[in-house]
Order: sequence, then C-alpha cells, then structure tokens
Amino acid sequence: MTLANRKGPSILRLSLNYGIGKGIVDMDTSLTRSGFGQTARPDAWWLQPAVVFLVLSSFVVYATWAAFQGTHYTFGPYLSPFYSPELFGDSPHSLFGPKPSGWPTWLPFSPALLILGLPAGFRLTCYYYRGAYYKAFWADPPSCTVGEPRKRYRGERSLPLVLQNVHRLFLYAALVFLVFLAHDVWGAMWFADPGTGQAKFGIRLGTIVLATNVVLLSGYTLGCHTLRHLIGGFLDQFSKAPVRRRLYNCASCFNRRHMVWAWCSLVSVAFADLYVRMCSMGVWSDWRIF
Ligand code: FES
Repeated sequence: MTLANRKGPSILRLSLNYGIGKGIVDMDTSLTRSGFGQTARPDAWWLQPAVVFLVLSSFVVYATWAAFQGTHYTFGPYLSPFYSPELFGDSPHSLFGPKPSGWPTWLPFSPALLILGLPAGFRLTCYYYRGAYYKAFWADPPSCTVGEPRKRYRGERSLPLVLQNVHRLFLYAALVFLVFLAHDVWGAMWFADPGTGQAKFGIRLGTIVLATNVVLLSGYTLGCHTLRHLIGGFLDQFSKAPVRRRLYNCASCFNRRHMVWAWCSLVSVAFADLYVRMCSMGVWSDWRIF
C-alpha cells in the first residue's frame, strides 16, 4: 500500500496492491483530507479532549502555585507529596537542613521547586498522557478521524518531541519517589502526645489521604509501559524466566487501567497537598479515627 499526496494538499492518492492467487490487483482510490474539526463521527468526540484540557490545565495551575508557596506544606507529621522528599527546608522533614546559605537572593526558594521537575517530567512523558494532551492541547489530531489544523505528520523523531524518549529515566526517579512517599505515610501514623510530647501511634483522616495517594501513585507507576517492557516485555520466551513472567503479569494488570490510575493519582496528589495545606492554615480540622 502506498500513500501519496499527488493532487495537492486536500486529496490523497491511495494505491492498494492486493495479492490474489498468483496475480496482483492494483487499485487507486482518492481520500479527501478533512478540514480542521471536520469528521463523519456522530458522537461528542470533542468532550474527552475538552475534559482533558480542563483537568490538566487546572492541575498545572494549582501545582505551580502550590510549589511556589514554600509554606503550609507540613502539618504535624504530614508532609505534602509536592514537597517530598524535602531536601532542604525549615520543617522537621528536611533531609539536609535549612535552605543553603549560598542560595541566590534573586532566586525564589521553595523545597518543592528542587524536586517537582522529576514527577512532572514523568507525567509529561507518559505514553498515555502524550496521547491525551497531543489531542487536547494542540489538536494533533483533535480526536480519531477528526480533521487537524496541519497538513504534515511530524511524529516524535525531531526536537523537541524526541526528548519524550527520556521517559525511562523519569521512571527510575518515580520509583525512588514512591519509597519516600510510602515512608511519609509511615511517619503520618505517629502523632505527638499533647501531654508528654512523645510520638504515639494513631490514624487520622490525613493518614488515610496520604496513604490513598501512595496506593494510587503506585498503581500508576507500576503499570507504566516502560516498566512493563523493562521487566519482561523484551523477552522472547517467558517460559525460561518464570519470575519475570509473574512480574510482567503483575505490571500488565496495572497497565490495563493505566488511564484510570493516571487520572486518579493526578487528583489524589493535588488533593493530598490541599489537605495538608488547609489543615496547616487552620481551615480544615484533621479528623481523628483512633
Ligand atoms: Fe505512563 Fe510510563 S507510560 S507512566
């Protein structure tokens, strides 16, 4: 089959070569290129990209605002996932102490800005999100079989989109972040006793919020297409690698609902930050379960 643009930008010539018995049948047909937004689809194809645009835009605006605040990101033993791990900062969660003394005065400082590029890069280069935001943000195409506002397919073989291939490196970072976030959940089970000041085990609503976030982020990360390939997708014979086969099946299980994990974890990570922030500001009270 060959596809050629022989009659100008709006007509595509499609040549099909069918093998029938010993002979070849050649057939030429023409496809009319649709204009932007034109389609024969009767369904509300625009709805999904519109929702993706709204939700992703809202998330980016909120996450950027929250990352620049540099305040109200802890409450008791809780640490906002946008700020974890806290490399440098003023809270007790900081790994290496306060802001470095040599930090330039003209450069805004927030512990989130030191780390947020890695999880953001992981989402930005995710195979699922790429498909979603290519449609929603620059209509490439707006949806399947819907006309797009350009005549050439550029693919991801040149700059800047060729950089999407660094997804594997972001995956390694995301796996490390999961360990820190799981550790934060453990820390979120120990509350200072008002009388003695000793840390006592307990579960509060914030503990559940942070734990749910880690579960959803794990479901998203462990279903990553790249991780699935690294675990066993590259193998020709699974029968020779039974452990890898089990792990591969496990990753495949998460991968089947990768889109659902992606959206649920996006909402949960923003809500976990909001929860800690609201409690720290005294707007919400942290409900004690036991
Ligand atoms: Fe979505 Fe890797 S493909 S996280």
